[in-house]
Amino acid sequence: MLFSTNKVYEDKVLAVKKGDPLFLLNLDSDILYGIFKAKSDGRKNIVPEAWGGLYPYQVEVEKSGEIMTLENCKNILSKLNISWKKVLDENKTKLLISNIGKHDTFAWGELIPDVVEAKRKVKKVANKEYDFNEKPQLEATTLWDYPRQSYGATPKGNNKYAGVTPAFIIYNLVKRYTEPNDLVVDPMAGSGTTLDVCKEEGRRCIAYDIVPASPSVIPNDARKIPLSDESVDMVFIDSPYGDNIAYNTHEKNIGMISAETDEFYQELDKVMSESFRILKPGKVLGWLIGDQWVKKKFTPVGFNVYQGLSKYFETLDVICVARRSQTSNTGIWYNRALRFNFYLRGFKYLFIMRKPSSESIRQQKRVVTWSRYSRARKKA
Ligand SMILES: C[S@@+](CC[C@H](N)C(=O)[O-])C[C@H]1O[C@@H](n2cnc3c(N)ncnc32)[C@H](O)[C@@H]1O
Repeated sequence: MLFSTNKVYEDKVLAVKKGDPLFLLNLDSDILYGIFKAKSDGRKNIVPEAWGGLYPYQVEVEKSGEIMTLENCKNILSKLNISWKKVLDENKTKLLISNIGKHDTFAWGELIPDVVEAKRKVKKVANKEYDFNEKPQLEATTLWDYPRQSYGATPKGNNKYAGVTPAFIIYNLVKRYTEPNDLVVDPMAGSGTTLDVCKEEGRRCIAYDIVPASPSVIPNDARKIPLSDESVDMVFIDSPYGDNIAYNTHEKNIGMISAETDEFYQELDKVMSESFRILKPGKVLGWLIGDQWVKKKFTPVGFNVYQGLSKYFETLDVICVARRSQTSNTGIWYNRALRFNFYLRGFKYLFIMRKPSSESIRQQKRVVTWSRYSRARKKA
């Protein structure tokens, strides 16, 4: 009687309080089971050895009375405007309980729903444009697309800073690849988006920039980071993509060097080498970069940077991040792109790299056994 999951659902599990109603959804069979009741608060490692330690975020549960089921659940949840990816508020919980069936056998007096009232409130929530307490969704695919730069009640970075990073990207990396209290470093932090995301997620963070655009960012050249070897749990870098944005006029600003020159990649190589040095083995670096098309010439900045990173790191994955809030997102540019036969930059690369460890080197010697499914025969 233990519900367990991994750290990407950390916030949700830690928000569970003893006595909260819980449901178990089997995504494969599309059946929801309930109602369970939390016997403990949500915590890390209640039973550390459960599932071989793979799912450390846990809640002890108990059932109250018989467990009921809700079949064809995704369809019903969608009709009720309930997302299984989110923690349910009181009204949605009531609404779900009223739909799971014989709730009269369930002995929590005050939770027996006033369904009409609950439905009314849920509708109100659905109409609200923006939930300030909401955390970004954790990405499950390699295509990330964000309608705005930041989320939540407090700003993350400064969305007026040219080249500011979408905070959602940093959130996803921090949640997937670090633990609370881990140390995250951003050597080219600009307006401090990484700092703000880390603060909210309980990670320590040191942010540097050659010309800081926030008082909490420390002035420093990313080619020499004042931290000791193997002392950092994650590095995030959204570097200049060439000389397309005038961040500042500091002589050491790499953003003043054209991405069409070898010098640009040589200078970024020094940043890669420093990032490699400070990272602990097995830990992750995320590097965001975009290609360039200037005056009829395409430069594959992303591929060039990837080639550089591959000298130091092994690749965990490559993400495509949609580019939305750019100056070229206008009708005029759209027209120009068609008239003069070129493409506007529609995406950036997020390279997720890992500093090799003895464990990852061991994993390279592996055999993949595929389960193959036979194709349905064509009808004659
Ligand atoms: C794309 S911006 C980073 C934006 C930042 N992540 C944010 O959300 O505000 C790239 C940054 O690299 C910085 N930069 C350029 N050359 C640098 C260097 N040699 N050392 C440290 N930072 C540098 C620029 O000043 C700029 O702020």
